Amino acid sequence: MKKSTAISPANIAFIKFWGKKDPELNLPFNDTFSMNLSCCLTTTTVEFSPKYKEDSIVVGGKEVSGGKKDRVIKILNLVREKASFNLKARAVSENSFPEGAGIASSASAFSALALAASCAAGLNLSEKELSILARRGSGSACRSIPSGFSEWKAGNSNDSSYAVQIAKPDFWSLADVVVVTNKEEKKVGSTEGHELATTSPYFKARLARLPTKIRKIKKAFFKKDFLTFGSILEEEAIDLHLTAMSSNPPVYYWNGGTIDVIHATQEWRKDGLLGFFSIDAGPNVHLICLGKDSSEVEKRIKQLKSVLFTITNKPCEGTHLVEKHLF
Ligand code: DP6
Repeated sequence: MKKSTAISPANIAFIKFWGKKDPELNLPFNDTFSMNLSCCLTTTTVEFSPKYKEDSIVVGGKEVSGGKKDRVIKILNLVREKASFNLKARAVSENSFPEGAGIASSASAFSALALAASCAAGLNLSEKELSILARRGSGSACRSIPSGFSEWKAGNSNDSSYAVQIAKPDFWSLADVVVVTNKEEKKVGSTEGHELATTSPYFKARLARLPTKIRKIKKAFFKKDFLTFGSILEEEAIDLHLTAMSSNPPVYYWNGGTIDVIHATQEWRKDGLLGFFSIDAGPNVHLICLGKDSSEVEKRIKQLKSVLFTITNKPCEGTHLVEKHLF
């Protein structure tokens, strides 16, 4: 059987996935909205063959085992079931961003795996089917399949929960300057955070506000009203972290550097440089700004002592096949 290789971007959610309605299927409680990140890419090659006696998974040159391997095997099994065969596979993966930099890689990893594995099995899945398959590995991965800006409709079953493109990459020249304040692997992963979300007394209040919030942020997005758009995405990031910090037990993802970056962006806004922060399940900050301002944002943020390095991204193509294999 042929080898297949896919490249896929990570994505930053402006409206976020926090809490699972169905943990086995990775169904969210609410719709979410995101942008693909051009410089946070995963490349994955998959081959199914009778020469393999076991599934083997290699990420960044290291053989993967335990829970991480099980998550990959779950996707390989779904692909084997669809293709009606039982061959073992080898999957090799590389990230474009530094290994273990605490940058979310499950979205790029599982979307790349969904496309590479399904093609290697001879399946020709539609964008919708790929988004559903990627979601089974990691919820947020379903949003990396379409190009540019995606909306993941929560749905209420396996077949109704997937992401669609709402705008092409060149619709709006936005940038995401990822500000890395800690390179360690986070102590509480997002999967565990999702499990605790509903224990927060504020979870229900967050859900109740979300439909209006999504409507407003999409309106601002399509009008390219950056001030309104940025204010809502920032409010949304705070909402997620208030939920996490008030869960039982609480989860604190921030470090001192996270707060330094938040304060710095507030200061810049006073003199007209617009950048709004978003934060996922970790201490690193995503500074969302207009493309024309990204080098100034980058220059200023690098002056903070707590900043290790930055990665500047623009909206980009979704998951796609490439010819060059990793093995
Ligand atoms: C805070 O998609 O990483 O980044 O399905 O358990 O892999 P799993 O969770 P994951 O959760 C993402 C959480 C988030 C918000 C978001 O990207 O929407």
